Amino acid sequence: MKIVVIQGPNLNMLGVRETNIYGPMKLEQIHAQMKEVASQNGAEIEFFQSNLEGELVDKIQECYGEAQGIIINAAAYTHTSIAIRDAISAVSIPTIEVHISNIHRREDFRKVNMLAPVCASSVIGFGPFGYHLAMMGMLQIMNEMKAAQDAQNAQATQA
Ligand code: DQA
Repeated sequence: MKIVVIQGPNLNMLGVRETNIYGPMKLEQIHAQMKEVASQNGAEIEFFQSNLEGELVDKIQECYGEAQGIIINAAAYTHTSIAIRDAISAVSIPTIEVHISNIHRREDFRKVNMLAPVCASSVIGFGPFGYHLAMMGMLQIMNEMKAAQDAQNAQATQA
């Protein structure tokens, strides 16, 4: 069971960038906490950050056949990227999107969300804790998928 965490543009600047909005935590600290939760739950986890839209699309495509869950903060591309939306649809892997800030309480252009309709869920406005909530949600989705698979296997053995 593998989860890939994909971080979009400027999230490598967390801890420095607009700390009044995004807080003082660095991306490495957020990832260290997620890694801890993953290992406690027997899940493999991989982290990827890029400032380039195409690299984010490539990474989502690479998840196909490799990962069972994606947690993504596409940052500014959330509001503009049909390419990232199409990539999420294409791989058909349960995806949870995270936003550290409450995008609905900010500028109007941040209220447009190209990705939410193709994601299993969105975690918005909890600060860096949102990544932990997304991990909890993803583990739940995976447990449900495994239970459904087990039930199907049991039925097949009975038949
Ligand atoms: C963000 C919100 C986006 O509007 C912004 O462009 C970001 C970060 C968030 O996590 O709150 O870079 O995705």
